[in-house]
Amino acid sequence: MIVEPAPAKLNLALHVRARRDDGYHELETLFAFVRDGDTVRLTPAERDGFAIIGPFAGGLGGEGDNLVTRARDAFRSSFGPGEPLSIVLDKHLPVASGIGGGSADAAATLRGMAKLSGVPLDDPALFDIAAGLGSDVPACLAGRTMIGRGRGERLTPIDAPDLPVLLVNPGVGVSTAAVFAAWDRIDRGPLPQGDALAIALAGRNDLEPPARALAPEIDAVLALLAAAEGVTLARMSGSGATCFALFDRVEDRATAAATIGAAQLGWWCLETELA
Ligand code: C5P
Repeated sequence: MIVEPAPAKLNLALHVRARRDDGYHELETLFAFVRDGDTVRLTPAERDGFAIIGPFAGGLGGEGDNLVTRARDAFRSSFGPGEPLSIVLDKHLPVASGIGGGSADAAATLRGMAKLSGVPLDDPALFDIAAGLGSDVPACLAGRTMIGRGRGERLTPIDAPDLPVLLVNPGVGVSTAAVFAAWDRIDRGPLPQGDALAIALAGRNDLEPPARALAPEIDAVLALLAAAEGVTLARMSGSGATCFALFDRVEDRATAAATIGAAQLGWWCLETELA
């Protein structure tokens, strides 16, 4: 049996540069990962099975379009059928929330199946499968801090800052396609130069304005995070609605989380660290 972590992905910065003819957008983004997220458990079995458990299991439909089963099937198409697998997805990340939950799950499935069948984790064919499953899946497959270009699939590693982070989601799902479609098509320039923290601090998330227009709850999340004691950066991740705040001190992160909890807004909060 293999239990493969599927950590949440953050876009510490996300610069949208152009709309492409294929409907996707040309990006420059700084991907980072945190220590917590979903897990995917793969167990060789007599026949295939798939189940979703955990606090956010209810947010997902059945087998039909789940990225986990699509990843399983795509892996088999490239590397052969292998043995039947019972797969259990333990869903702790909110769905459709800009922190790559589905992409992380798909990537964890690919990693788990690769381990079970002796495929090296850096096999280019694995990254081709990942890119076919979604723009963020290659980054989640590598699972480390990286600059992403193109759709997000052209990856360059960069050293990770090791910082406390608070994730907050106001409980509204946003459609990635709708947020990209509402981008104003103004190129505001490339990622800044420097180390990962410098890029994050001087960077932007160009999807914040269109996401805030579609889901005004994001305004309140960002306002609360930006006002927290000791916060170094408060920003939305991906196409939203999850926002993150970076802190220097764990104590400040805990105070911010307690303040949000006490306000009883029904928001999802996760106290974690950049990995
Ligand atoms: O690649 P993925 O299926 O995750 O993308 C979901 C949607 O987000 C796409 O259909 C597209 O509308 C939008 N998208 C985009 N440009 C990107 C990534 C995603 O326009 N670089």
